[in-house]
Amino acid sequence: MTSQDPTAPAASLDAVGRPLPEFAVPAPLTGHGPARIIAMCNQKGGVGKTTTTINLAAALAEYGRRVLIVDFDPQGAASVGLGISAHELDQTIYNLMMERSADIHQVIRQTAVENLDVLPANIDLSAAEVQLVGEVARESVLARVLRPVVDDYDVILVDCQPSLGLLTVNALTAAHGVLIPLECEFFALRGVALLIETIEKVRDRLNPRLEVDGIVATMFDPRTLHAREVVARVHEAFGDTLMHTMIGRTVKFPDASVAAEPITTYAPTHSGATAYRQLARELVARGDAA
Ligand SMILES: Nc1ncnc2c1ncn2[C@@H]1O[C@H](COP(=O)(O)OP(=O)(O)OP(=O)(O)O)[C@@H](O)[C@H]1O
Ligand SMILES: [Mg+2]
Repeated sequence: MTSQDPTAPAASLDAVGRPLPEFAVPAPLTGHGPARIIAMCNQKGGVGKTTTTINLAAALAEYGRRVLIVDFDPQGAASVGLGISAHELDQTIYNLMMERSADIHQVIRQTAVENLDVLPANIDLSAAEVQLVGEVARESVLARVLRPVVDDYDVILVDCQPSLGLLTVNALTAAHGVLIPLECEFFALRGVALLIETIEKVRDRLNPRLEVDGIVATMFDPRTLHAREVVARVHEAFGDTLMHTMIGRTVKFPDASVAAEPITTYAPTHSGATAYRQLARELVARGDAA
């Protein structure tokens, strides 16, 4: 078929006009681990880090991947968003960071989603940043904490807090890759250069394997020229680091958070659930997840 053939199906394009591949459903795994560790980072607040962590994790879990979410924000939003009352827990990731005798297997919680576990956090973690400053190898504490369970999971997603402080540097030091959720609004690009600079510093000094896996556009409204302009500028600046999959803006995400469930179980046929399943398939197709 030539491109002039009027009966040829129109190739579908993504929001920046690139041909949109069909991302295959990932083949079942015959065994599990070792995990690829992905840090969800953006020092800007409220851009969709936690939403992307929970829903990408749930989508990967649906595809039979064993997934661990590391809640690495003292706000504990990822824990709460999965139905864990983190403020009531005696043992959280904070204890694992600060006490060498604490056992990660005792701290990990199963969620209502099959194949999805969470390492919870609560406000205790806010003390860690200060307390770690005097530690030896203070940047690699999270890597040490995760080591005993890396072989049990296929993917570990670390939900970072909105800062480039020592906790985020710990996440980047433990990770193989970084996903950058980017809200489709005017000031979205501000700060991304600084984030990339931080990632490059961590790669040079602490973690040579670290790579940027992708930028995920979130809260995208294709009906507004503004949102389309923002993704076009992101594509101009970062090329194919911008993932094809874009997450639309919908109130179903806050609704699912209130229900303490991923959208994939709260509204399994909603476009938001479909989008995160596609993101999971795209990540696997790129070789950035098992
Ligand atoms: N695609 C979306 N459409 C509509 N609302 C969304 C979407 N993604 C996230 N939200 C909502 O936006 C708010 C911020 O999202 P989220 O908590 O995931 O961001 P965050 O980057 O983790 O924030 P923080 O920096 O505070 O940790 C939440 O209320 C969430 O429900
Ligand atoms: Mg968050």
